[in-house]
Amino acid sequence: MSQQIVLTGITTTGTPHLGNYVGAIRPAIEASRNQDVRSFYFLADYHSLIKCHDPERVNQSSMEVAAAWMALGLDTDNAIFYRQSDIPEIVELTWILSCMTAKGLMNRAHAYKAAVAENETAGTRDPDQGITMGLFCYPVLMAADILMFKANKVPVGRDQIQHLEMARDIALRFNHHFGDLLVPPEAVVDEDTAVLTGLDGRKMSKSYNNTIPLFLPEKKLRKLIMKIKTDTSPPEAPKDPETSSLFAIYRAFADADAVAAMRDRYAQGIGWGEMKQILFETINAVLAEPRVRYEELIADPGHIEATLKKGARRAREHSVPYIEEIRKAVGIRPIGG
Ligand code: TRP
Repeated sequence: MSQQIVLTGITTTGTPHLGNYVGAIRPAIEASRNQDVRSFYFLADYHSLIKCHDPERVNQSSMEVAAAWMALGLDTDNAIFYRQSDIPEIVELTWILSCMTAKGLMNRAHAYKAAVAENETAGTRDPDQGITMGLFCYPVLMAADILMFKANKVPVGRDQIQHLEMARDIALRFNHHFGDLLVPPEAVVDEDTAVLTGLDGRKMSKSYNNTIPLFLPEKKLRKLIMKIKTDTSPPEAPKDPETSSLFAIYRAFADADAVAAMRDRYAQGIGWGEMKQILFETINAVLAEPRVRYEELIADPGHIEATLKKGARRAREHSVPYIEEIRKAVGIRPIGG
């Protein structure tokens, strides 16, 4: 069997938070240690332009995301770690795929439909108001990211499954027309990875502005944890761990024995203040060392840049010859060739 190729992209808007860590970064770093798998992880900075038109933020976020992955132990000699915008072949492929993508398929994309629905609710005259071609074509760029490296497994959150189906559709349509050149990918959705709730009890997400950033200074981390919303039950009241967001976060950071012991504490009654203190200590113990590395990396952007450039060189060993084949297949080749 040919080697498994696992690929995933990280959009570079905002600062990496605890939810990103347990949902995506930690499992990806663990998977990248597997020598039987070739992993491609990249900063989807072109994707970030869709949502963010602040150049400083785009740049800052790329740095923070790269530093976070490196500080948390990504082995950048094993995994190929790069920045999307360093691989011009991806953008070339995006155009070629766009010409094989039905507009109707894009009309059905959840993100686009949600934006239209929002306009309709607001009663705007044009249902496409404020919607860019970038948002509309997002799934094609994502398909190019994936197909460029013949990825067969793509770990993503549930919200991305439709994009993977679209990437498959596009690949199959291309292959039907031009010959079997692209590899239809498969989404890998890990049902076990925790989805953390944020400060306000909703899913932790930068769009809700309720996140706990990963690399806050210790004091600030503690302060934010103390702000997590809880109910007003008194300390001695027995509590249900399953509905407690503090417990859900605890579970994502503590080992199995500690989690079992904490279940008992909940049954007996534990004060929220005490629970928050324990939660802070547990998270802090996991993050203390990476935090030091993170600070060192942020102080040395040249090293981050060099690491990404190394990743780009390795990635382009694949993309440069492959785009050549793809161009040839569609007829973009020397005259008479
Ligand atoms: N759309 C993904 C997200 O928002 C990020 C992404 C961009 C991606 N390109 C990708 C994920 C390719 C997997 C494969 O999470």
